[in-house]
Amino acid sequence: MRIIKIFDTTLRDGEQSPGATMNVEEKLQIARQLARLNVDIIEAGFPITSQGDFEAVKRIADEVRGVTVCGLARAVDKDIDRVAEAVKGADSGRIHIVIATSDIHLKYKLKMDREAVLAMAVKAVKHARQYTDDVEFSAEDATRSDWDYLCRVTENVIKAGAATVNIPDTVGYTIPQEYGELIEYLMSRVPNIDKTVISIHCHNDLGQAVANSTAAILKGAGQVECTINGIGERAGNASLEEIVMTLKTRPKYFNADTRINTREIYKTSRMVSRITGMTVQPNKAIVGDNAFAHESGIHQDGFLKERSTYEILNPEEIGIPRSKLILGKHSGRHAFKDRLSALGFQSLTEEEINKAFERFKALSDQKKHIFDEDIETLITDEITKESDVYSVASLHVVSGTGQRPTAKISLSIKGQIKEMESTGDGPVDAVYNAIKELTATKSELKKYEIKSITGGTDALGEVVVLLEEDDRVVRGSASDPDIIAASAKAYINALNKLTGINRIVKKGV
Ligand code: KIV
Ligand code: ZN
Repeated sequence: MRIIKIFDTTLRDGEQSPGATMNVEEKLQIARQLARLNVDIIEAGFPITSQGDFEAVKRIADEVRGVTVCGLARAVDKDIDRVAEAVKGADSGRIHIVIATSDIHLKYKLKMDREAVLAMAVKAVKHARQYTDDVEFSAEDATRSDWDYLCRVTENVIKAGAATVNIPDTVGYTIPQEYGELIEYLMSRVPNIDKTVISIHCHNDLGQAVANSTAAILKGAGQVECTINGIGERAGNASLEEIVMTLKTRPKYFNADTRINTREIYKTSRMVSRITGMTVQPNKAIVGDNAFAHESGIHQDGFLKERSTYEILNPEEIGIPRSKLILGKHSGRHAFKDRLSALGFQSLTEEEINKAFERFKALSDQKKHIFDEDIETLITDEITKESDVYSVASLHVVSGTGQRPTAKISLSIKGQIKEMESTGDGPVDAVYNAIKELTATKSELKKYEIKSITGGTDALGEVVVLLEEDDRVVRGSASDPDIIAASAKAYINALNKLTGINRIVKKGV
């Protein structure tokens, strides 16, 4: 089976997504995770563009071991020298040179003719070879370039010493069959093609990036350039996880695989999403929240009888602990009981399950999706039947321009009134600081959301929070016309759920 090299450009092309700028520490964190994922090459940045980019590439090269670290350069000496300087501390460093080859780029952007671009490309590759054998050349906008000219450029940069030649679909213009034919054309027409690795780099403007990449792999491409979650310039790049899992799922069809440690995929996806602030759409293949969610009763029943009836991938292979069955009003008792057991409620009696199931059915008439936290609440109520540990007795907040907000809160804790005053960056922060101190909670606030239920300034404000403690995430919610009070109650609601669950876990239910 052929091994396809994975060239990850999340930190270079991915960072070119609007709003996805990362600082050096964040890039380093992602680079370490990419090394755990076992990518072959990390494109860490474009060092000439800024001191920050240079430093990020240098730190990654100096500190992340066992992976090739690459930097991008235009086909000019000063860019190449800067990359060479940045990657010199790497276990293995690569210089990646780019110049456009399409007539449209030559005419309007470079204002050069084909011969001049060819000469510049060759000169740049030779210059880079003074530093390393590992030089990659990219023919920008290759898919809109004249195919015979592209063959000539490819042949000459290989002669100059390019170990990898990349054929980018820079503007996401090509379609799978055509891209496959282009790779086949190069393979058959360039006489020294066996001296290089053909790389592919697809953008997603027409939503074809992954399909184009897999079509090119079938025609002999040996390296694929891609990003985590498919982030990148405009509509993004080909998604690493989709390409890797396509090859893994269809080995006979592709006769190709990668060295990726697929169990690190989900973690990497979450990390990139968290750091860049680019959320993953729920229906995104492989890593989206719904990628392994089955809502229809028929699907759930089939899945529970035999996973492969409705799942072609095993979520555990991607590092997702288990398939997420979203329960709704179409779900049956079988799915409900199975979820209870996955949530750790294995020793309920049949009677308790029946009662909880009745309550679940009633709730699902009001609520489209029932999440784990809702089920945990149902069970908590059903089993403990104890009242809440915490409730808000009173709340007083002072905030305004030019003063640090202060919150004074009284909580009833197991029937005893306790009071605390705190400050914060905003009124909600002040309230949450006071609650944290009063309850001595170990939980961490993972999410805070506020929305108005109806229009107008008198609308009820609904606050939803997610709290995490010991890998368990609970959702608290509350509504109140006073949004600060709603915030306090939502937090308390989540703390009560955590306390209830902890009690059940201790009881060994
Ligand atoms: O899309 C592109 O052409 C690029 C090159 C630098 C490879 O990102
Ligand atoms: Zn690109």
